[in-house]
Amino acid sequence: MCVEASHKVFPEWQSLQASKVKSLHRTAFHFQPPKNWINDPNAPMYYNGIYHLFYQYNPYGSTWGNIVWAHSISTDMINWIPLDPAIYPSKPFDVNGTWSGSATILPGNKPVILYTGRDGQKRQVQNIAVPKNTSDPFLREWVKPDYNPLIVPNNGINASEFRDPTTAWLGQDGHWRVLVGSRRKNRGMALLYRSIDFKYWWKVQHPLHSAAGTGMWECPDFYPVALEGEFGLETSVNDNGVKHVLKVSLDKARYDYYEVGRYFAEQDQYVPDITSADNGMRLRYDYGNFYASKTFFDSGKNRRILWGWVNESDTEDNDVFKGWAGIQTIPRKVWLDKSGKQLLQWPIKEIKTLRGLDVHLRRVHLAKGGLVEVRPITAAQADVELTFHIPNLHKAEAFDPTWVDPQQLCGQMGATVQGGIGPFGLLTLASKNLEEYTSVFFRVFKGKNKNVVLMCSDQSRSSLRPEVLKPSFGGFVDVDLSEGVISLRSLIDHSAVESFGARGKTCITSRVYPILATGKDAHLFAFNNGTEAVKILKLSAWNMDKPQMN
Ligand code: FRU
Repeated sequence: MCVEASHKVFPEWQSLQASKVKSLHRTAFHFQPPKNWINDPNAPMYYNGIYHLFYQYNPYGSTWGNIVWAHSISTDMINWIPLDPAIYPSKPFDVNGTWSGSATILPGNKPVILYTGRDGQKRQVQNIAVPKNTSDPFLREWVKPDYNPLIVPNNGINASEFRDPTTAWLGQDGHWRVLVGSRRKNRGMALLYRSIDFKYWWKVQHPLHSAAGTGMWECPDFYPVALEGEFGLETSVNDNGVKHVLKVSLDKARYDYYEVGRYFAEQDQYVPDITSADNGMRLRYDYGNFYASKTFFDSGKNRRILWGWVNESDTEDNDVFKGWAGIQTIPRKVWLDKSGKQLLQWPIKEIKTLRGLDVHLRRVHLAKGGLVEVRPITAAQADVELTFHIPNLHKAEAFDPTWVDPQQLCGQMGATVQGGIGPFGLLTLASKNLEEYTSVFFRVFKGKNKNVVLMCSDQSRSSLRPEVLKPSFGGFVDVDLSEGVISLRSLIDHSAVESFGARGKTCITSRVYPILATGKDAHLFAFNNGTEAVKILKLSAWNMDKPQMN
């Protein structure tokens, strides 16, 4: 096994096509191709009424390798039609790889793609591709102009750590700017390049931003968010009404971290807010299995949309046996929370078109040890939303300020470990007698001046198979509990549980592989294992239909 662009490479498997695709744990409404390996979402965009999603794809097997840009289109980001791969190795500047990149819509409504090519010397270079024919509504064919590569790793840049160009933005000075992820020794950085004509690019002397000790920054993303309101902004907008988000995928940790801050265009500098600062890069889009994400501005509905890659956490030989690996998250709308300190994320409203048979519960009292089954529902393929009320908040256990790692806390305080307030939440993908379940829950502590809320998506009991990875993912939720109310939503899809705490303040995605809690044998429960009672004010759950999926 060797590692290339941070992916494990299995030479003996990367071109081994499975004889049959196994459907047992395949998701129904998450984005995926009919078979084989996928990783990063690339160049999502909205162009003349059509959504495009490209993604890193291995046409020949279900581990990483042979990467091309697969291409699908949609009118709602829920139903997808596959097209032929748009970009694949074909030129000296990308013979050894067509890796991640982003779309920019140039003035005059002209879409272009910037992507990383691996050239004949295996250097990572940045290239441009343009539609062959912009009057083709699906933009099926893409061509690579002869003036490629646009940007090469000179002046001491590490040629094997130089990739994943962002969407470019236009400054008020008429200069285009783009970021490329890199590192110098162990300092991760977003290198900044400028151009007037989008052909000739030069490097700004200092990176837009960098942080010591963080290692390679993959798939940077940089965009404005409005100080007020939920609407999204075109990537070039920069005025007094915005803050800027910088997201990087940290290769060492394999998680996506972001910061909220100010962008000073004239100085080509980004300064994270003190609440967000990179001392530890604390904020994450998702505290579970989620990487190499990318946003785009949806001009059709004036919102910013986030896509993220969710890898398998099964063993690689099982990925080979299954014949497929990897999904994309349900696209999420992202906007700035009123506090200005963090983002909020919520599944796009189009997902509701898949909702079928529904179940509603109201005012359910959950005493200590309470367990209620949510029925009748296809619990393996469902959307569930609920709101809890916590009457006796003062009974919360004390929070020890040395508890800084929420994932570690979730590992120690699982769904069955009794607390004062909580754990309470859902048991998803549960077998009838609870031999298997993936619990998604809150636990509330008494902090120095306010309550501390922990959210967990605990996989430790998710499968009876011993060999699959079963972390207990966790994140803190910065929510005001003065009304004693907290909400939870989970999208459950056979082997994926994508959860949103406190209306999108903290999100956690889990991949799980039950052997009992599958298909019709999957159940859904609400539970409370705290000493104090909690109440479900309202719970709604829906069976989810299967969209057209490639
Ligand atoms: C992130 C990544 C990118 C690279 C691509 C290759 O998962 O390693 O940095 O461009 O995948 O497939």
